[in-house]
Amino acid sequence: MGKLSAAITAVGAFVPKFVLTNKMLEEMVETNDEWITTRTGIKERRILKPEEGVGSSFMAIKAAQDLLQKKNFDPKEIDLVIVATATPDTLVASTAAFVASEIGAINAFAFDMLAACSSFLYGMSTAAGQIASGRYKKVLLIGADTMSSIVDYTDRTTCIIFGDGAGAALFEPNEEGLGLQDEYLRSDGVGRNFLSMDAGGSILPASEETVKNRKHYIYQDGKSVFKFAVKNMADAAAKIMEQNNLDHEDVAWLVPHQANKRIIDATANRMGLDHAKVMMNIQRYGNTTSATLPLLLADYENQLKKGDNLVFAAFGGGFTWGSIYLKWAYN
Ligand code: UT7
Repeated sequence: MGKLSAAITAVGAFVPKFVLTNKMLEEMVETNDEWITTRTGIKERRILKPEEGVGSSFMAIKAAQDLLQKKNFDPKEIDLVIVATATPDTLVASTAAFVASEIGAINAFAFDMLAACSSFLYGMSTAAGQIASGRYKKVLLIGADTMSSIVDYTDRTTCIIFGDGAGAALFEPNEEGLGLQDEYLRSDGVGRNFLSMDAGGSILPASEETVKNRKHYIYQDGKSVFKFAVKNMADAAAKIMEQNNLDHEDVAWLVPHQANKRIIDATANRMGLDHAKVMMNIQRYGNTTSATLPLLLADYENQLKKGDNLVFAAFGGGFTWGSIYLKWAYN
């Protein structure tokens, strides 16, 4: 693959105020802090409380505004807005179109990217591709998910993992060879048997029956997903290192999807990476699906240096997975 000169030039983030702790979950389902901590690494997650009457666009707009305020440029310059999400505000109408209008990106076209937990990773490839085409100069990629809107808080195998949040990254052309260097992205449709929300789509539209049978909640066969995730996320990260002759010493940071600390550790081990080089905030936010990667960038932004080699890796429903090698572009 040829060199793509699309760099991340700014990041932004937003998480809701409400904190759902492991202790609180102990009151809701049969679980305990020790099990959740040792099996997942999660201590708490943020929840966009339903009574606020808002969805993923609310958090996406906040994250974009955070970025705009830090970078300080006119949103009219944005050419494209992509919202990576598994929980759009509504079906049919693009959440990204609403977000673009609300932030003042009135000259942009906008669409949603749905690839479960790999949405942001796939979005990075798409954003960089649009910049590399030479047709667009500013692409805003936002990962936003309100997982609490589809989590069954009586199902202890899923409700302990997920949280809500949003993060944003701006992609611009770079003439110094920084930015996205290479990618390895894959998918396998067998995955929809293991991680899905059965109703509300074209196969099983909403009905009294689907509601009664709790089919509008996310379901996952955790053990199977875990096995696929450990193998494929680690393989993808190893592959991107091999393709680019990267030694563990060349990698400044692993930016891994935050689904389970054990999956992250396995990926880092496979890369031979010192754990101090692994970005991690799963303990505070849980699995925010499309928002994990940009939330990490926002959390670690002040530790990143121009020229740092970052390896992104993700695995999600579908199945979808992959890895991206990116050179950080600013101090
Ligand atoms: O981001 C998208 C992709 N998603 C993922 O990558 C998630 C992948 N899966 C996972 O992270 C893990 O499979 C889970 C965290 C969901 C579950 O961990 P696990 O180590 O795979 O647990 P398990 O399903 O094998 O269950 C082990 C035991 C079972 O009890 P028995 O049958 O051994 O007596 C479960 O019933 O743990 C029990 N268990 C729980 N106990 C306390 C399951 N959930 C809980 C819980 N609290 N919340």
